[in-house]
Amino acid sequence: MVSKVTWCRVMDVVIVVGTRPQHIKLLSLSRALEQSGISYGVVHTGQHYDYEMNGVFFEELSLPRPVAHLGVGSGSHGSQTARMILGLEKALSKLKPDLVVVPGDTNSALSGGLAAVKMGIPVAHVEAGLRSRDQFMPEEVNRIVLDHVCQLLFAPTVHAYNNLLREGVGIERAYLTGDVMADNIVLLQKHIDEVPSPISVERKDYVLVTVHRAENTDSPNRLQGIVKALLRIPRETGLKVIFPVHPRTRLRLKLYGFMNKLENAEGISVINPVSYIESLKLAKNASVVLTDSGGLQKEAFMLGTPVVTLRDTTEWVETVEYGWNTLAGAYEGRIIEALKHFLHEKPPAVNAIEMYGGGKASARIASIIVSFLQK
Ligand code: UD1
Repeated sequence: MVSKVTWCRVMDVVIVVGTRPQHIKLLSLSRALEQSGISYGVVHTGQHYDYEMNGVFFEELSLPRPVAHLGVGSGSHGSQTARMILGLEKALSKLKPDLVVVPGDTNSALSGGLAAVKMGIPVAHVEAGLRSRDQFMPEEVNRIVLDHVCQLLFAPTVHAYNNLLREGVGIERAYLTGDVMADNIVLLQKHIDEVPSPISVERKDYVLVTVHRAENTDSPNRLQGIVKALLRIPRETGLKVIFPVHPRTRLRLKLYGFMNKLENAEGISVINPVSYIESLKLAKNASVVLTDSGGLQKEAFMLGTPVVTLRDTTEWVETVEYGWNTLAGAYEGRIIEALKHFLHEKPPAVNAIEMYGGGKASARIASIIVSFLQK
């Protein structure tokens, strides 16, 4: 049906991406749109540009190549967002989509949403309704703004859906679709088992660590708390620490003088960022995951690995409610205590993939978009 109305259009849908967590959402989303006969093009803001933050995902997952690349790169939040909006305005006026889809909560997602609504193009937000209740988090501001200007809101969880109802934006616009990241795990299950580990390590013999949130990397005190905890882990638990380092974290660890300590410590491997499937493999086989990433918290839960979150809040509250996630902040003692707790006590069994929509979120989203485009 959609293809009927598209003959005179350049495309039905533009998906705006730009960062690592958005690239991976393209995997299941793009497939579902294709299967529903929706024509789409990807616009890449260029927020992430290093091969390990960008190219590797497009190659490994055979993601659709962007029809436009804005090459915006890094900068302060204001200038980065402003440059993205300018570039997106130009791209959208050429591509003339009927709908813009923005996954996630990054500055790229916010810019996609703002550029489109100001041009009168409706926007769909994938991962709508998530709230950490921490308005100092840039992503929280992005989420709130997006959910209040988008026409279609795709909530990944019941909590997220209820947040949208509570804020008065849900009734006609919100849909409980499930989480496209659960779809990814279902799609990639076989590959996760088959891909070689990026580092030689025994199953359940290590903890996987990632840190990249501004609240942690830009605070010497918080980063120190985390580093001190990491240094204690091999000594006190016998587990190895595998730490793929985000580029901003690498810069800060060097700046604050922590990098040498980590690199010289017995049992700690500081490695470059890994690919998506490698990251899922490392998370699945880890004893416990320690992270400040929103995506990895939930991926670990879906893969059956408990999580210690290096933040004071989370938007994925169900991971805590079900006993799989402990919020330890950046406090050395709390991190170690939470880790040891999970080493002694496995959380109660739960079918996390089902909780996040059973691997069918993208298909639901595509079908809602088809109905929207037909109106
Ligand atoms: C962004 C998102 C965050 C997401 C994260 C995933 C926002 C507000 N934040 O944070 O929600 O979890 O991506 O990684 O959008 N850098 C490089 N190479 C790159 C990209 C970044 O070296 O390819 C360095 C630069 O020094 C840059 C810094 O990382 O200034 C921060 O990058 P930026 O894109 O501003 O935010 P992220 O921390 O990656």
